[in-house]
Amino acid sequence: MKRTLIVGNWKMHLNVAQSSLLVARLHKHIDGHRDIEVVLAPSMVALQPISTQIDRRRFRLAAQDAYHKDEGAYTGEVSFHMLRDLVHYVIVGHSERRIFFNEGLDVVRDKVSACVRNGMTPILCVGETAQERAGGETKQVLHDQVVSALSNLTGVEVANMVIAYEPVWAISTFGGQIAKPSDVVGEMAFIRHQITELYGSHVSKHTRIIYGGSVDDHSARAYLEIDDCDGVLPGNASLNYHKFTGIVDSAYKMNRDKKDD
Ligand code: 13P
Repeated sequence: MKRTLIVGNWKMHLNVAQSSLLVARLHKHIDGHRDIEVVLAPSMVALQPISTQIDRRRFRLAAQDAYHKDEGAYTGEVSFHMLRDLVHYVIVGHSERRIFFNEGLDVVRDKVSACVRNGMTPILCVGETAQERAGGETKQVLHDQVVSALSNLTGVEVANMVIAYEPVWAISTFGGQIAKPSDVVGEMAFIRHQITELYGSHVSKHTRIIYGGSVDDHSARAYLEIDDCDGVLPGNASLNYHKFTGIVDSAYKMNRDKKDD
């Protein structure tokens, strides 16, 4: 069985002391669950101190981005190579990177490849803007983002990766319109279908597809109930102890209810 994946993307919030405080509080509430994987994505400066603080049976770490060259004269960048042994996951192609930092399809593809080459698991973010959705371009956008990002990977590598469907219009940064689960179920199925087309169903059934966009403790379960949804990627709500632990609890309760059935 795939473990339900909950990834808290802290974005450019919380300094080292604040990050450490939140982790200490989360430790008190979140136990290791066999069927839930909780991942924290703090800022780059907090990764090292947090890595020595966390109980790795309960939490894994993700970086929010990295640079695809392993080393060289790229002032200000941190490479995937440098993150080896520090994090398990790296978020790649987040819409804030695509939009604010002009990351195009080629850059995202190179980052996904560098992530895998360096032994970490990419959490590839894909999603359409409000304008693209209104123009009926959602499937084309998702197709292009998925196909191009995976183009250097083998089936085994795709089976092991995570794809986050984050409709840009539903992310708090870009307006945070609440997407009903019925608004996203088709898109998530479409993403899995793309992987089936490219690599076959033996691969696509293993790839974890998660949802992000204004997820909180109240809405998490409804997304997690979607057939093709293997987890959630909250931003804002992951900064709040009550909301984030509420999301983890929702996943726990849902899995428990399913077992009882
Ligand atoms: P919000 O939950 O704040 O909308 O952010 C979602 C997101 O971008 C996670 O990567």
